[in-house]
Amino acid sequence: MTGQRTPHQAADTAAVVTGLGTCLPETVVTNDDLAQHLDTDHAWIQSRTGIERRRRAAAGTGTGDLAVAAGAAALKSAGRDTCDLVLLATTTPDRRCPATAPSVASRLGVEAAAFDLSAVCSGFVYGLTVAAAMITAGTCQRALVIGADVYSTIVDPTDRATAVVFGDGAGAVVLERGRADQPGAVLHAELGSDGTGSDLITIPPDGPHLTMRGREVYTHAVTTMARSARSVAERAGWHPADVDAFVGHQANLRILTSVAKRLGLPQERVVANIADVGNTAAASIPLALADAAVAGRITAGDRLLLTAFGGGLTWGSAAVVWPGVEPVCDVRT
Ligand code: UT7
Repeated sequence: MTGQRTPHQAADTAAVVTGLGTCLPETVVTNDDLAQHLDTDHAWIQSRTGIERRRRAAAGTGTGDLAVAAGAAALKSAGRDTCDLVLLATTTPDRRCPATAPSVASRLGVEAAAFDLSAVCSGFVYGLTVAAAMITAGTCQRALVIGADVYSTIVDPTDRATAVVFGDGAGAVVLERGRADQPGAVLHAELGSDGTGSDLITIPPDGPHLTMRGREVYTHAVTTMARSARSVAERAGWHPADVDAFVGHQANLRILTSVAKRLGLPQERVVANIADVGNTAAASIPLALADAAVAGRITAGDRLLLTAFGGGLTWGSAAVVWPGVEPVCDVRT
């Protein structure tokens, strides 16, 4: 297997994905459901975003609840019952203080360092990168990286620009210390930000709801995701033909299509589950991975290019060789 090691890695040492778990709320909200109380319709939503339905958490179900279920599922997938780091990427923590991750760790019954990470829709790739670096540095041995968001708690249900886009969900991976030539290895990752665009996706000071200047975000997302993904692929030593699957943040099907085109990747290499779950923010990439793995769309040894973009503005990409783990997928209210 080719692939340049991240500079901080000791020879042959890498963080390796060993488990994948997800949790989706059971309630499905279709485009037609939304059109009953919003000035929108299925044809617009489907053609402009690729979304057909999304999941919504029941009142009282929080990010922590979905994170615990996805985390437990990922540990089960890995065949493990402990870890020494719980990293929760979320924009919708259960409370402002303290972080949600320590209670997630306690509810999972693990004694671990635990913290939340706030990078909006790039949260999972940020979390994966930070946890991988901690593993290769020897700071921890086994990390649970969870992306969980309940955007139904921050989206204005009367704002058609955001209400049709976002869905609730959680996804998680287990990362362990291993070798760079092992399936599951995180070969290279890069992160970036541009705070001059902080007002494009924001909860304004006079809140309480999320606002998004969609058209502007769209343009930034296409350009930046393509640049970031290309850079990571090059650093991993991959040509476009080497990439088996492009797993981008599921913000908009048209964004994924455009980025793949810019990268010179055929459309059949694009992994997309946005039709079924919408934009699930930090949960988006692990949910897409699980969907693709269950469908047999990605298999052991496949070279995956992960790329995310979101509020902040933030972005990140990672080159990962898929380990062929069996995802465990949970559903709750
Ligand atoms: O996850 C973090 C990163 N987020 C993203 O990457 C999101 C990127 N942005 C997008 O995905 C798209 O910009 C949206 C899906 C949010 C919006 O699609 P768009 O094609 O950029 O629409 P637009 O905002 O430019 O609006 C076009 C028209 C407008 O009408 P006029 O002014 O042309 O008459 C909107 O009022 O579509 C109208 N519109 C809608 N019509 C029916 C906006 N939302 C809706 C709607 N249903 N839900």
